[in-house]
Amino acid sequence: MTPAILRTVAELRARVSDWKAAGGTVGVVPTMGALHEGHLSLARRARTACDRVIVTVFVNPKQFNNPADLEKYPRTEAQDAALLAGVGVDAIFAPAPDEVYPRGFATSVSVSGVSEPLEGAHRPGHFDGVATVVAKLFGMTRADRAFFGEKDWQQLMVVQRLVADLNIPIAVEGCPTVREADGLAMSSRNVRLSPEGRAQAPALCRAMVAAAAEMRAGVPVARALETARAEVLAAGFDTVDYLELRSADLLLPLERLEGEGRLLAAATLEGVRLIDNIAV
Ligand code: PAJ
Repeated sequence: MTPAILRTVAELRARVSDWKAAGGTVGVVPTMGALHEGHLSLARRARTACDRVIVTVFVNPKQFNNPADLEKYPRTEAQDAALLAGVGVDAIFAPAPDEVYPRGFATSVSVSGVSEPLEGAHRPGHFDGVATVVAKLFGMTRADRAFFGEKDWQQLMVVQRLVADLNIPIAVEGCPTVREADGLAMSSRNVRLSPEGRAQAPALCRAMVAAAAEMRAGVPVARALETARAEVLAAGFDTVDYLELRSADLLLPLERLEGEGRLLAAATLEGVRLIDNIAV
């Protein structure tokens, strides 16, 4: 069945009220569209876990620190709708920017701590934009459960903090990163790479997997990280913004392997900024 495409908060609320009156659980998968297998895995997970599934498709201007980046973000609505029909989601909420941020909009949600290092340090204001829109999407949909990818691990931690701190009645579930056969984490940005860049890109996750293995084998964390950074640069990446071991939940720096660690990296290849993370 083709999912209903809802443009307004009023339509969305009416739909969700009917579903809730019938006693169903509602799941939401927030996205910015240009859907790939990574997004679809979240929608499938929501489909098995909830009676009703809403996928939101909204390119959120507040989380882009660069207007050119916002401008060139791919918009592929018809294709997205066809893919989501295949998964069997119930509704797509695809509002216009004015519907989400009407005249006079004045509130910003800011999560401190976990949003500050890593992506937060390289993209000022990004996580305020994410937290603000996610809080709004949770309020608009009144969903019982929400599904986010581990691909954006720091985002997942920010959303979990937000929900706990503001007592938002929703269960947030993280879902595993979906990768290409050669290990590259799926991302809507991968298509911007030339064939040569695409062939070099998996070096990032390969170096991370090797560093994680070294750390587990007792190699000092700083040395394993240094080797990985050198490998990524040698493979053709232009810059490594960060490649760090952090505690998985609070994202505090870890100098040695203890408790649950997460290796997180961002690096640029052919002007395309790729991020990835794995458990250690
Ligand atoms: P977007 O980049 O479209 O991603 C939507 C969801 O898909 C996020 O939860 C992201 O972690 C997940 N995802 C992306 N690539 C994935 C992959 N390879 N494997 C598994 N999951 C993957 O993240 C955003 O949009 C926005 O910040 C949003 C949360 C929608 C707020 O605007």
